[in-house]
Amino acid sequence: MADTTFALLGSGSYAPERVMTNNELAKLVDTSDEWIFTRTGIKERRIAAESENTSDMATAAAKSALEDAGITAEQIDLCIVATLTPDLPMPSTACIVQAKLGLPNHAACFDVHAACSGFIYGLDTAWAMLQSGRYRNALVIGAEKLSTVLDWTDRTTCVLFGDAAGAVVLGPAPAGSTGEIVGTKLYSEGGNTELLQIPGGGSAHPTPGPGTPARFIEMKGREVFKFAVREMEDAARDILEQHGIHADEVDCVVPHQANLRIIDSIAKFLELPVERFFVNLERYGNTSAASIPLAIDEARRSGRIKPGSLSLLVAFGAGLTYGSALVRW
Ligand code: ACO
Repeated sequence: MADTTFALLGSGSYAPERVMTNNELAKLVDTSDEWIFTRTGIKERRIAAESENTSDMATAAAKSALEDAGITAEQIDLCIVATLTPDLPMPSTACIVQAKLGLPNHAACFDVHAACSGFIYGLDTAWAMLQSGRYRNALVIGAEKLSTVLDWTDRTTCVLFGDAAGAVVLGPAPAGSTGEIVGTKLYSEGGNTELLQIPGGGSAHPTPGPGTPARFIEMKGREVFKFAVREMEDAARDILEQHGIHADEVDCVVPHQANLRIIDSIAKFLELPVERFFVNLERYGNTSAASIPLAIDEARRSGRIKPGSLSLLVAFGAGLTYGSALVRW
């Protein structure tokens, strides 16, 4: 299969109905719409219903992606869910999604955990598995119910995140199809795990209780900001250099949607107008692994990504992890 080209054949996304505005948050913690919007670019985010799990959002996004691609559930033999908020510690959310979608038993289904870089990690993994010739059609899903890992009394984190899902179908590209993956590149830098973590709930601190760390996102925002800018710049520059592409040839950058000021910095670094970046974080906040596939789906459906154009996807997240991908539509 080395000479087969693989492409994103379709995309889909799902966002919960419930909108939570900055003004609503200002009733929970000592913050304001003005502070949140000026520092991050976020206006509102979506919050999943109590009964709505990560797998439900992942399934809805995947159904829409399958429909868009014209591929049936039976044709999928690989399903990767990128998430840091699985329904359960065990089994994988991908297996729960498999049952909900009716994917065949011969499909390999598993989760990847690379926080906000998770979708790019999943895409890279799926692409490599398809290129091996042992799998044919893959679903790559990013889905998060981050509202369950937020401390709603901590204004430094709870204002930043939201719930959503996005999905793509990756498969052999028929003649004339769009969405060809040109390249992907992954990085991780494990020396700074404490900058962004959920300290409780894992095997190091399994039982919640007095004195044990909480099962909530903790972040040293200012330090993460600096890493995010440097890592996204590195990831963008490397992949462009590797493929001999000048930044100006990129029609649409789809960055991880964490903070508009981070996106502005990357735009300056690449010497591109910020209009070249697809941004929807004002409506969703940071949805971690869901952020890039949700943005891809909105950009495609709104005509912002056009056939023949070149997209650069670039993300960073806890780990610290980062990565990039180039897609020719
Ligand atoms: N409302 C009002 N004031 C606030 C809030 C808030 N929600 N949050 C913090 N403040 C205060 C702080 O207490 C501080 O007050 P002080 O000066 O009296 O101490 C002041 O605002 C400035 O705080 P900073 O942390 O310096 O603010 P900064 O400009 O760095 O913005 C932010 C904070 C938005 C978190 C920024 O640092 C950031 O975006 N960092 C990157 C975060 C990120 O992208 N994370 C991605 C996670 S990806 C993943 O894998 C999950």
